Amino acid sequence: MLGNHDATVWAGPWGVSFAANLTPDSTGIGTWTAEEFVQGMRNGQHRGGGRPIQPPMPWQNIGQMTDADLAAIFSYLQSIPPVENAVPAPRAPAGQTVQQEVPD
Ligand code: HEM
Repeated sequence: MLGNHDATVWAGPWGVSFAANLTPDSTGIGTWTAEEFVQGMRNGQHRGGGRPIQPPMPWQNIGQMTDADLAAIFSYLQSIPPVENAVPAPRAPAGQTVQQEVPD
């Protein structure tokens, strides 16, 4: 796995991923509910029900926090100043596509 000096872009066997904007802007997680955040950290799916969250986001570990701790993290993230920054979508390796949905 390779990362850049400020840990905003990562490359590995899954392709390339870009660290999310966690500020309460509409380009970040400003429109998310606490339930979407907690569910996403628990099941590794975008907003708790979308595409798989790519490495190296350690949702398998973070998702083991208690409901109270995850709610506290979300509450803190919603309290910081919003930053407008549309982060690129992850990219798959050449010839492959990023999985958009988690199979049943
Ligand atoms: C308490 C610590 C952390 C929290 C609360 C957190 C939260 C989040 C959230 C909410 C997302 C967006 C997921 C989505 O789009 O549904 C995300 C994505 C991401 N995080 Fe984290 N994160 C944490 C730590 C880390 C660490 C330690 C790394 C890297 C070493 C990391 C790397 C990433 C990357 C690369 C993405 C983008 C993944 C994608 O586009 O699918 N995160 N994170």
